[in-house]
Amino acid sequence: MTAELQRNADLGPLSTFRLPARAAELAVLDDVADLPRLLDTERELLLLGGGSNTLFVGDPAGRVVLNRLLGRRFHDLDADRVLVEAAAGEDWHKLVEDAVARGLWGLENLTLIPGSVGAAPMQNIGAYGVELADLLDAVEVFDRATGQTGWIGVADCALGYRTSRFKNEDRYVLLAVRLVLTRSAGPRLDYPALAEALTGRSPAELRPADVANAVMGIRRSKLPDPALRPNAGSFFKNPVVDAARADELLARNPELPCWEIDGRRKLSAAWMIDRLGWRGRSIGGARVYDRHALVLTNDGSATGADVLALARAIRDSVGERFGVTLEPEPRLVGGAL
Ligand code: EPU
Repeated sequence: MTAELQRNADLGPLSTFRLPARAAELAVLDDVADLPRLLDTERELLLLGGGSNTLFVGDPAGRVVLNRLLGRRFHDLDADRVLVEAAAGEDWHKLVEDAVARGLWGLENLTLIPGSVGAAPMQNIGAYGVELADLLDAVEVFDRATGQTGWIGVADCALGYRTSRFKNEDRYVLLAVRLVLTRSAGPRLDYPALAEALTGRSPAELRPADVANAVMGIRRSKLPDPALRPNAGSFFKNPVVDAARADELLARNPELPCWEIDGRRKLSAAWMIDRLGWRGRSIGGARVYDRHALVLTNDGSATGADVLALARAIRDSVGERFGVTLEPEPRLVGGAL
């Protein structure tokens, strides 16, 4: 039995950035049958998963529902393909570990990403040359408009760079995802540092675990462990501009990393922030991680106001120097940039 409402609940430990915040009401969802009752409120609703992509820069207005729906199963589709169904409250990294341990290809580049399975389609998580869209088959949702539960196929999820229809529409509660993995696909080594980490190994000999281990090594060398240094991964998205704008910027900044994306250009926010000398700088308890300029961390005493002040200062300086507007990558609750 869940669905008991906790009043004036502490949200600090429920988000990996660990900013101080309180919820007027907090409920844990671990049985889908409780959903209609939990959603039946006049108050504003906020669905929370692993809390790795949500920053409480202030208190949320109404009821917070923690998605803790559990369960995962693997099902052979044929000799090669395996269908994986995982509930939204499952830990993403544990799912990846499970798939990798079974020798399945598909999720190994997405290892060690903090957060829950339900957050993955929300922002189409991606890392080291792979994104969820490459593997996703369908998402199970509860539709608040109709009160019905059903599956939405990947083609109708509007997945893009760190976005989906679920991020932009408040209508659906994510219940589960379905992925297709394979026994034969082989490694995806497009990300140069990953290929470099596996130099000397023949791709034909590599197992999913080898790639996952290499990705873990890269992540640990660049990104802070949220358990030791609270953070929410990349704080800003890499800005996407049209080709003409990118060419102008590249003429003046030939080293600016830039990638093609759907006919447009994605620019490295980390490089621009780094170039302006932000690495290691702080406001109050909020700090730019000294090994990666795109990550903000909480020294332990950060408030929402500290994070907003630091993020605004970074955004404004990048805007002045490079003429591009940085947008936050995680969801900011209780305030805006
Ligand atoms: N760079 C700098 N200074 C830094 C850090 C990086 O100049 O302090 C340069 C690097 O040299 C590199 C470029 O910036 O040329 C890009 O850096 P990196 O490869 O680390 O990737 P990113 O664009 O900063 C994105 C994702 C990460 C993901 C990595 C690897 C976004 C917003 N972030 O970061 O995802 O792990 O690529 O694929 O797209 C996240 O979303 O929370 C996240 C960590």
